[in-house]
Amino acid sequence: MSVEKFGPVRVGLLGIGTVGSGTFEVLSRNAAEITRRAGRRIEITRVADLDTARASALVAGRARVDADARALVADPEIDIVVELIGGYGIARELVMSAIENGKHVVTANKALLAVHGNEIFAAASRKGVMVAFEAAVAGGIPIIKALREGLTANRIDWIAGIINGTTNFILSEMRDKGLSFDTVLAQAQQLGYAEADPTFDIEGVDAGHKITILSAIAFGIPVQFGKAHIEGITGLQSADITYAEQLGYRIKLLGVTRRRVVDGRAIGVELRVHPTLIPERRLIANVEGAMNAVWVKGDAVGHTMYYGKGAGAEPTASAVIADLVDVARMLTADPGNRVPHLAFQAESLSDLPVLPIGEIETAYYLRLRVADEPGVLADITRILADAAISIDAVLQREPAEGENQTDIILLTHRTIENRVDAAIARIQALSTVLSGVTRIRLEELN
Ligand code: HSE
Repeated sequence: MSVEKFGPVRVGLLGIGTVGSGTFEVLSRNAAEITRRAGRRIEITRVADLDTARASALVAGRARVDADARALVADPEIDIVVELIGGYGIARELVMSAIENGKHVVTANKALLAVHGNEIFAAASRKGVMVAFEAAVAGGIPIIKALREGLTANRIDWIAGIINGTTNFILSEMRDKGLSFDTVLAQAQQLGYAEADPTFDIEGVDAGHKITILSAIAFGIPVQFGKAHIEGITGLQSADITYAEQLGYRIKLLGVTRRRVVDGRAIGVELRVHPTLIPERRLIANVEGAMNAVWVKGDAVGHTMYYGKGAGAEPTASAVIADLVDVARMLTADPGNRVPHLAFQAESLSDLPVLPIGEIETAYYLRLRVADEPGVLADITRILADAAISIDAVLQREPAEGENQTDIILLTHRTIENRVDAAIARIQALSTVLSGVTRIRLEELN
């Protein structure tokens, strides 16, 4: 018995690089199963790529190939455009044209959605088309599906994610094998994890794009990448990785978004990416190499964690094809009855503000180089006490032989960042504090 209730859905692919070729391959390999699930065949019938020779070799006659992306998004034979070009430039123009031409869009482009998502979703709603983007966050992990649908009963409290494989790979390899930053970055590029511009990975921009999208879906707010606070891993020192381990923590580049509630009232949303100490006993602290993991805390469900490959040809293709199946299943549905782009109905988005970084609340790791003299620690702890910052742990190294200075490491309880910064300024003014204070945020995630 045929499972096909309708004729095939015709897909145009913009870009057949790593993810595009993975999509072609998986769609073709699993065609029978995918058809049984979607109820109709999903066929890539046209591919646009500047490197037509390479594209033609990959496609091997199974679809039309040329370099004319603008013609593809205007082609009346195409139902769904899959955008795998990346970036904010031509990709934005093509996605907007595809929408204007009434095509549904599937994209893996987190940068585009984090920066221009509001405009793209508004245009798609006007035209009654879907824009699906599972592959934009955490590659093959179905985190968009989980947040937007599986957890729809919940008030989401917070999300913390390792959502950039390149930096997690770098931090893991540096810690495990003592390799240099540059050596490991080159490996990540060879393995196809890194962005075309790897500064997007190591400076936290890629993770910033992804947490911006997750934050919007979790809290029903517009995408606001410009308000995200972003720090990468380039300033991280190996001494801090070592001290963190001695205190029972791992340092990860985390994307964090949290609804801040004060006196029972939500006052804003934290939206940030930065190196973070996490207790090593937490599952997420043990996510190594290029793997991704997203931890979501919902009020009803409690803690949930989603783990898997966040990059690579077939894991990302898995997400692209899941979107294709979703779109294929919903093609005939009334647009008003489809899952909203940002999980909440567009007219019900909230204006809860994204909080400035100084107003976030978290715990801190502080490292100081101090003179080894009586009263130094007391002076520092008094400043913290004056600022109502409570200390959780202190580690003081024995001075090296013949030295009269040493490192002190302090862990604080949760407090407001502005308060910590003011205290650090006072601590640095002490004559016995011999260097700037290294400050790394710490999340207990409990
Ligand atoms: N550059 C990204 C990463 C690829 O390293 O995770 C997937 O978005």
